Amino acid sequence: MAKPILLVDDEKQMRDALREAIQRLGYSTVVADNGQDALTKLNTTPFALVVTDMKMPKMDGLSFLKEVRKRVGKLPVLVITGYGTVENAVEAMKEGASDYLMKPFSFEKLTKKVNSIMESLAGSREIVSINPKMKRILQIAGEISTSDTTVLIYGESGTGKELIARFIHRSSHRKDKPFVAVNCAAIPDNLMESELFGHEKGSFTGATERKIGKFELANEGTILLDEIGEMSMGLQAKLLRVLQEKEIDRVGGKHTIPINIRVLATTNRDLYKESTEGNFREDLYYRLSVFPIHVPPLRERQDDIVPLSEYFIQKFSALLSKEVKGLTKEAVEFLENKQWRGNIRELENVIHRAVLLSKGELISVDDFMCDNDTPVADNSSKGIKEMEKDLILKTLKDVNGNKTKAAKILGVSVRTIRNKLNEYGKYFPDT
Ligand SMILES: Nc1ncnc2c1ncn2[C@@H]1O[C@H](COP(=O)(O)OP(=O)(O)OP(=O)(O)O)[C@@H](O)[C@H]1O
Ligand SMILES: [Mg+2]
Repeated sequence: MAKPILLVDDEKQMRDALREAIQRLGYSTVVADNGQDALTKLNTTPFALVVTDMKMPKMDGLSFLKEVRKRVGKLPVLVITGYGTVENAVEAMKEGASDYLMKPFSFEKLTKKVNSIMESLAGSREIVSINPKMKRILQIAGEISTSDTTVLIYGESGTGKELIARFIHRSSHRKDKPFVAVNCAAIPDNLMESELFGHEKGSFTGATERKIGKFELANEGTILLDEIGEMSMGLQAKLLRVLQEKEIDRVGGKHTIPINIRVLATTNRDLYKESTEGNFREDLYYRLSVFPIHVPPLRERQDDIVPLSEYFIQKFSALLSKEVKGLTKEAVEFLENKQWRGNIRELENVIHRAVLLSKGELISVDDFMCDNDTPVADNSSKGIKEMEKDLILKTLKDVNGNKTKAAKILGVSVRTIRNKLNEYGKYFPDT
């Protein structure tokens, strides 16, 4: 039985709305109308997650959070802060909140945050490997995590770079402080500076509120600069200055803000080569690669294919409420002979899809069928979520929106279908 989520809010309306939304995601909930009550409940029940309001009359959210941290060190806490109270959120992150939601928030936002915390609890943080080279890497990562060295983690896409970065943070003395990841490839260049360093109200057209940047949010913790190879030259210069001076300037700000931060970076490019070719600042390259870690592609650790597959089978069986327990002999051969250009992410996607399709306790080669007739190697990372969505929506269409029938055909629970539809923001009337 999965552990319930504890919801703490003094306002009944909010409490009910939260409960309803979170139950729709398939999680069970327990509610408390104040911090004291919540602490009593924490003494007797193990929870998966706490969602708490920050502004409450008897015991405010921050004191409650501190108390939770004292009692159950690792329990993730999602805090809800009032409109425009950024400082509140920053304070809460410092005290070890896992994430925050600012009022007013949409159902989608809440769903996304809760799901991502719950999924990370479901085990996606674990690093599975029996490969000697990989074990050595993890050992080294563990050793360097105690210092504040900058680490550059590089390797092909989908090899587990971000997982290793999170592992370094978790093993470090900063583990109870924030871990903030910024994907340098996903944010348009002109917004990146304010994303990283924040901005003051009115500092440029569109800056209607003061914004706290990722560096400030991650203060005292770790920042992960994901896909650093994509950062523009201009910003590289600013980043270098931040790393040297250990202080940041908000865009339009009047004074600098000191920061104490551990920097990790990942890239799937050959940054050294890029730096010699003038595409990446050489000085920044040397600054970042004080300690380089190369994560080998899956083809160089074939022995990990089966343990990883078994791990993913367990994970998706639990998430999709299926009874799949393993692989047939032919299925193992298939996986061992396949080329994994998308590396572990691709393997994870292939297993996800197979668990979804599988009818029995063992995954057979047939369950990998769609991999034979479509070349998925490269677009597979776009793959699974999209394909799962297509599959579910198509099946629903075939049975005129009858969720019970669709669930039967796909071999998942009706609840899984409902959750997925919620996730897609699609509504099929209940039949
Ligand atoms: N050793 C491992 N054990 C379990 N899961 C793993 C392992 N390595 C990677 N994964 C999983 O594979 C997926 C890809 O990992 P991750 O995001 O860390 O890769 P990445 O190298 O950062 O990829 P990209 O270059 O595409 O950003 C994640 O879902 C991660 O949880
Ligand atoms: Mg990554």
